Amino acid sequence: MENTLVNSNGTITSGLDANNVSVFDRSFVYGDSLYEVFRTYDGRPFGMHEHFERLWVSAALCKMKLSQTQDHLKAECIKTIKEFREKNKSDVYCRIIMSRGVGKIGFGLKNLTTPTHYYIIVQSVDDFKSAPIEKGIRLQVVGRLRNDPRALDPAMKSGNYLNSLLAYLEAQEDGFDDALMCNHQGFLTEGTTFNLFYIKRGIVVTSPLPLGMLDGITRRLLIQFLAEKNIPFVETPFKKEKLYSADEVFITSSLKEVYPVTQIDRHKKKPGSLTLKLREIFHERVLAQCLKN
Ligand SMILES: Cc1ncc(COP(=O)(O)O)c(C=O)c1O
Repeated sequence: MENTLVNSNGTITSGLDANNVSVFDRSFVYGDSLYEVFRTYDGRPFGMHEHFERLWVSAALCKMKLSQTQDHLKAECIKTIKEFREKNKSDVYCRIIMSRGVGKIGFGLKNLTTPTHYYIIVQSVDDFKSAPIEKGIRLQVVGRLRNDPRALDPAMKSGNYLNSLLAYLEAQEDGFDDALMCNHQGFLTEGTTFNLFYIKRGIVVTSPLPLGMLDGITRRLLIQFLAEKNIPFVETPFKKEKLYSADEVFITSSLKEVYPVTQIDRHKKKPGSLTLKLREIFHERVLAQCLKN
């Protein structure tokens, strides 16, 4: 916690002192909040514009009228990151949380006494380091289903992460690192905090967004690279057996980038050559893009 800065509506405090969220904040009472996470490379934020665009998509899905502008929030993120890096040279994890605001208990918006409130948490990205590549990640396809888009659309990145959290705990109880979730028809959707891909005979496959998942920014970029490099790619629904017989399986997220899966249920895999190549391409592109900004 010492190496954390929190910006609460413009006031920056160190992590340990950042204990000023009202118990009447809707994010606390109802999980009525949205969030985004991005990181820096060499001190430069990656994909900040895309993350803020998605925040606005989430706000529309959540019927949340954001009172701050994107430019203001971006400037506050940059300010907090800069202040963090004055003391700590490492790259940062930046999480922005938008709460609907503070107010009397009750769903009605008339109960709100404040506009939307933002919190920006900046920490060293090293605090979220993954296991070495050779170890990869061991995933269980858990019994818990991914939220149905008609109930709580996974495309909305809200602060209510109980669906993912409970899936994660289920996998952990069974000795796995993390979880994959299916929809009600048994089609794979995504992991708790990452998108999913597999490779069979040189073809890269992922699930289509309408099955119910987050439109991952890493997923989107990777799909773009696949097209540019003429690597065969399809978006199609698939069940867990396809993962068992896949040549390679990998996940994507802003923190894990492109990361190999080394076990799905009882089926072991090795980090594959195409996965590692995609990881390399991703890295090169990210760094090139950051240097342009
Ligand atoms: C449920 C879920 N899916 C996918 C992702 C990956 O998204 P991105 O690549 O934008 O980080 C995340 C990231 O937090 C997530 O929470």
